[in-house]
Formats: sequence, structure tokens, C-alpha cells
Amino acid sequence: MAVLQGKKVLLGVTAGIAAYKTASLVRLFIKSGATVQVVMSPAAKDFVTPLTLATLSKNPVYSSFFDEESETKQWNNHVDLALWADFMIFAPLTANTMAKMTQGQSDNLLMAVYLSAKCPIYFAPAMDLDMYKHPSTTSNINTLQNFGHHFIPATSGELASGLVGAGRMAEPEAIVAFIKADLLQKMPLKNKKILITAGPTYEALDPVRFIGNHSSGKMGYELAKHAAQLGAQVILISGPSCLTMNTNGVKLIKVKSSDEMFKAVFEHYATVDIAIAAAAVADYKPAHISAQKIKKNEASYQLDLVKTKDILLAMGEQKQNQFLVGFALETENEIANATGKLTKKNLDLIVLNSLNDKGAGFQSDTNKVTLLAANKKMTTFDLKTKAEVAQDIFNTIIAIQHA
Ligand code: CTP
Repeated sequence: MAVLQGKKVLLGVTAGIAAYKTASLVRLFIKSGATVQVVMSPAAKDFVTPLTLATLSKNPVYSSFFDEESETKQWNNHVDLALWADFMIFAPLTANTMAKMTQGQSDNLLMAVYLSAKCPIYFAPAMDLDMYKHPSTTSNINTLQNFGHHFIPATSGELASGLVGAGRMAEPEAIVAFIKADLLQKMPLKNKKILITAGPTYEALDPVRFIGNHSSGKMGYELAKHAAQLGAQVILISGPSCLTMNTNGVKLIKVKSSDEMFKAVFEHYATVDIAIAAAAVADYKPAHISAQKIKKNEASYQLDLVKTKDILLAMGEQKQNQFLVGFALETENEIANATGKLTKKNLDLIVLNSLNDKGAGFQSDTNKVTLLAANKKMTTFDLKTKAEVAQDIFNTIIAIQHA
């Protein structure tokens, strides 16, 4: 599950022995596809070097309001850092910083970042067993939980003092697993299975030639990535495309022709919750595929074409509980044509691209769409990247499903 893929993680490191484990924690976040920004309390630098964490996170590590090394004494903006993050994790969190958090003290950059953060906050305390058991610690943990922060309890074991008991910071693997599980259960598409078609189809004429189109597949691949980030299990059925798909949670099935796409779609359609037909399926295919390469013996050559099966139309006919989304690429009477397809194909939503809009449609990295829903609601969006358009499409699907 690609829960952490693309997530922006702010890691707050405070001055405990367990700070050495943050090197592994940073690596685990990075391996899960997240971007990590480390902010340390000044004293934490005695426990793990900023150089280690900067190297592993591939980002500068901040610990003071000013960058002391730079000649211009650059200001490290706590607000920008705080607003950048998708979530913040304090690991290890000392008794001292925990107390400051409950009081809203802002005597270092880390505390200023914390007080400016609007994102979810996780905290993994680490301290000696008597400190961990102290009523003030228990009370501070409760206070932070009442703030809505997520508590990752310390574990029991041998502590740096040599004493044995509760107070060890949760292991980096357990911290990552805790955060993943928490994010997953908040994901709007968790437990949803989504089928997406993408790319062109190639309709063979002979063993070496085909009729195809210029679709890159970008829109469908962005939809698949975004659906996985929202917790869905995705089946991406793609015609020939140069794009690759490495996102966890997306199963890529490659096909060539419209017939192959049709077959692959109906192997899965009955089991999915949402289906999105973003593929530019050929409308016609050669009536016969020559077994041998066609020779250029004649001055002219007539191609006999027959209609391909309309995959989306068939999905609409066989629809049970699936939420069905189609695309319409139009050059004139856009709204009327798209509305006609919405009804004819029994869709819940249609994504209209007009070729009259600059930056929309095939090959481009951008798209400009209007979403028309079966409930007659129509929303026109600005020109955006296809990744942003994918977000708009899923926001609309989720809003309709929760209406
Ligand atoms: N589509 C499909 N199978 C086909 C043709 C189209 O699944 N054989 C899907 C596309 O993926 C898209 C939608 O149908 O989601 C719209 O396709 P489009 O070609 O624009 O519409 P048509 O209904 O084929 O009408 P026309 O070509 O006449 O505009």
C-alpha cells in the first residue's frame, strides 16, 4: 500500500539517546517514497549529527532560527517548514520538549515549527523509566492526546541508564507501521477496488503494422497513482504506453488491442467499486488481420474497418454497484455531446476535454476538464497538471459518493 508515497514528513528530533535511531527512521520514510525534512532541537545535535540526517534525508537539517554557517545568516522560516508538511513526527520526544509542547513554549526553531504546524502530529517519547512513569509525564501525554496528537507509546526493555522498564522509543519500523496504519484508516478510498483503463489501443493490420492514436496514457496513470495514494487497490489496464508504474497498490495489466482491453476489463469489472475509462480506445479496427506482411503491390490500398466493441458502453450495461466514469474528447457542442454520452453509457460522471482548450488532451502534461455528473452537477476547472486533474476527479467522485 502506497500510504507514504509522496508524503512530506517533518521529523522533529529531540535530545535523547534514542536519537541515533532516527537515522534508520529517515531511511524507512525515504524507502516508503516520502520526502523527509529534519528539524532538531539544539541539544539533539549532541546525540546524532545533522550531517548524518541531512545525508540520509537528502535535505538540509535545521536547528536554529538562523543558518549560522551562511554569510547572509539566512532565516530558517518556521512557518514555511510547518505548512510544508503532510504530518510531523517527534521521535524521540524527551520529557523536556513534551512539557514545552503542552505549554506552548517557543524557545527554539523546533518548538516554533511545532506551534505553527496545522498537520497531524505523532509523538514517540523516549526517557528513563521513572521519568516515563512520572505523573507529570502521564499528564503531558494526555494533554498532547487531547490536542489531537497521536501517541506512539514507548516500549519496555533495557534503557540507556542500565535500568529495565518502559521508556524505550518505539523501534523505527514500529513508528512507520503505526503512522502507515493511522493514515490508511483515514484514507477516503481504503478498501476500495478501482479499475482504470489508460493509453491508446493498437489495432493490427498485419504482423508489423497497426492503427493507433497519440494517447500517452498520462491521465490514466496519474489517476491510478492518486487512487493508490488515497488507499485504493488499483487495477490499471493500459494500452501501449512508454510510461512505467512503480506505485505500490497499482497492478498494471498491459494490453495492445481494444479486444484485449475488453477481455482484461471484464475479468475484473464485476469485483470493483469504481471504474474509470480513460483509455483512448480505437473506434474502428481492420476487418481482417493479414497473416503476412502486406506488400506494396498495388497503386492504392483500401482498408476495410469494423467498429470495435465499446468497452465503456458494455461496462454501463453490466453496471451493478460500480461508480462508472467515462471521458469525452469533443471539438464542438461539447456539453451536449458529453451529456449524451453520460446518459447513453449509463455513467455516474463524465470528464469532458475540449480540443478547443489550449493545453488539454493528448500527449500534454496538462489538461482542462469539465466534470458532468449524473446528478446534473457541472464543474469546470482551470488548466492544471494531469496529476492535479486526477485529484479533482477523485475529490468529485468522493464528494458524490458521500453526498
Ligand atoms: N471508450 C471505450 N471503448 C471504445 C470507445 C470508447 O471504452 N471502444 C470509452 C473511452 O475510454 C472514453 C469514452 O468511451 O471514456 C468516450 O469515448 P469517445 O470515443 O469520445 O466516445 P464515443 O462514444 O466513441 O463517441 P464518438 O467517438 O462518436 O465521439
